[in-house]
Amino acid sequence: MAKAHTILFICLGNICRSPAAEGIFKAKAAKTGLSVTLDSAGTGAWHVGHPPDERMVRAAVGRGYDLSALRARRVDIGDFYVYDHILAMDESNYTDLKELQPPDGTATLSMMLDFGSGGEVPDPYYGGPDGFDHVIDLLEEASDGLLRHLKASHA
Ligand code: 4NP
Repeated sequence: MAKAHTILFICLGNICRSPAAEGIFKAKAAKTGLSVTLDSAGTGAWHVGHPPDERMVRAAVGRGYDLSALRARRVDIGDFYVYDHILAMDESNYTDLKELQPPDGTATLSMMLDFGSGGEVPDPYYGGPDGFDHVIDLLEEASDGLLRHLKASHA
């Protein structure tokens, strides 16, 4: 049996974008039968132990994704040895991860939307309610692209 792909999704608080990425990718991977080990984490520690933001949970439920069991944690240097792919939601997350990345870390660090529309997943935390659905749109497209990439790179 093929080894599971291990993927860690990263945002700032780990209560909006990266838990949504984890939940969306999990659902899509399950449909394709690809074996994956997933987690998400934040570069900041304010929300450690908290469930996802209820606005994100509601928007996700509306689109068929259940994020309710997820709990926030902070990214750790050890993650760079555990995960094959570490995916940043925005440039600020990417810069913070580059600073944390150990020279002998084995993870490949990328922007999530490199697999979708390009650019950043905007932080919905201080924005209006439409921001959460927009985040889901971007993450669904990028999740499809990431699945295609993984299938192509590991026949
Ligand atoms: P996330 O959103 O990075 O997508 O989880 C945020 C959540 C919390 C905060 C900022 C962004 N905050 O400042 O507490």
